[in-house]
Amino acid sequence: MERIKYILDEKQMPTRWYNIQADLPEPLPPYLHPGTKEVTRLPPPLFCEEINRQEFSKERYIDIPEEVQSIYRTWRPTVLYHAVGLEKALGTPAKIYYKFEGSSPPGSHKPNTAVAQAYYNKKEGVKRLSTETGAGQWGSSLAFACQLFGLECKVYMVRVSYNQKPYRRIMMETWGAKCVPSPSPDTKVGRDVLAKDPNANGSLGLAISEACEDAFSREDTKYSLGSVLNHVLMHQTVIGQESLMQMEMVGNYPDIIVGCVGGGSNFAGMFLPFVKEKINGQKKNLRIICAEPTSCPSLTKGPYAWDLGDVAGMAPIAKMFTLGHDFMPPPVHAGGLRYHGMAPIVSFLHKLGFIEAKAVPQIATFEAGITFARSEGFISAPETNHAIRVVIDEALKCKQSGEAKTILMCHSGHGHFDMAAYDSYLSGKLTDYDYPEDLVKESLKTLPEVPAEFK
Ligand SMILES: Cc1ncc(COP(=O)(O)O)c(C=O)c1O
Repeated sequence: MERIKYILDEKQMPTRWYNIQADLPEPLPPYLHPGTKEVTRLPPPLFCEEINRQEFSKERYIDIPEEVQSIYRTWRPTVLYHAVGLEKALGTPAKIYYKFEGSSPPGSHKPNTAVAQAYYNKKEGVKRLSTETGAGQWGSSLAFACQLFGLECKVYMVRVSYNQKPYRRIMMETWGAKCVPSPSPDTKVGRDVLAKDPNANGSLGLAISEACEDAFSREDTKYSLGSVLNHVLMHQTVIGQESLMQMEMVGNYPDIIVGCVGGGSNFAGMFLPFVKEKINGQKKNLRIICAEPTSCPSLTKGPYAWDLGDVAGMAPIAKMFTLGHDFMPPPVHAGGLRYHGMAPIVSFLHKLGFIEAKAVPQIATFEAGITFARSEGFISAPETNHAIRVVIDEALKCKQSGEAKTILMCHSGHGHFDMAAYDSYLSGKLTDYDYPEDLVKESLKTLPEVPAEFK
């Protein structure tokens, strides 16, 4: 009998997060203050002390507080599936495994950090959190976490997704949060954009500015980010740590690790616990591949440059692969993959050659999602379909070469609120969109100048 599920006992759930900053071959570039251009921490009015400490910590492991562990246990450890249905459908000798993060209450990996962030803010006396969301997975995860700790939550949701996915808004409201479309009339930055274009689709960079302005303007509020920053990626390492144990149960080590990237958090959560052996030369041949949309190709078309984290310049300047902070993405369905930049840790490891990046077009990702749904059963988020596309492409290469490679994928979430997107695909209405080089060049003109020592 072929084994399908690799299940860990609750007692085996990781009790520490893994911090890659202890094992990087060189230190990460610092953050720069958007005004003074001096090296800075995260702005204290936006982030609580413990989050700020974790952002720059070089300790290899950070203990997960017992209260956070006990909430994690609602859905963790998550299952590692052997994708026998998909292997059969493709006729590939490759062995495909996926770590299913869609079983959390909001339906994705995002609560792994939302619960931790809400916990630390509550502990430091914060009453309310503001945030942005693209597709709504992050907003609903923070709404869920805030509700558990008795915090108020305000979510600025990119307008195009707010219109495409009303059930995500209702989910946030069910957990007691307030969700408004961004750009919104609730902030100055939102009002300025609406004055120029009342129908603006919005972007993650803009929604971040609105959420930051909200937190800067209220004593009782801090800001929470669902991806990109070092502490967020670290909170996600429960995924990779569990996967390491589960791959041991399988009795196999991956040749290829795949994940989709918006800001980089689910992918990093999966690969970071594996990459240290690639960095130290023990697993030189391990390939780590991330999938991004051709409509938002920060790693495949953007330069590695200093850029602002948001449209209005409230967040620090970071060194990352970027399409420019005023990048306005087209209204494709992978709402969570439309951030202009990439996590500094993912960017740095890509720059050093430890990670490959592939850009995949929208129609091909839905084709992959349908193949997956029809062979494995799970209907995946449009974001996750990007990773599935790359997995299928690698498995088909194995079919040609006859190699039985082991492929491990982070399955970042279910697509139960994305049926309108599937409907567009199934009815032939979906189109592909390649973000043009000249638009990339155009938005790079507004990259901030930084002092010579950082160039
Ligand atoms: C299901 C899912 N996968 C992936 C992402 C991309 O985010 P990240 O790159 O931080 O994992 C999102 C973002 O909203 C998401 O909802």
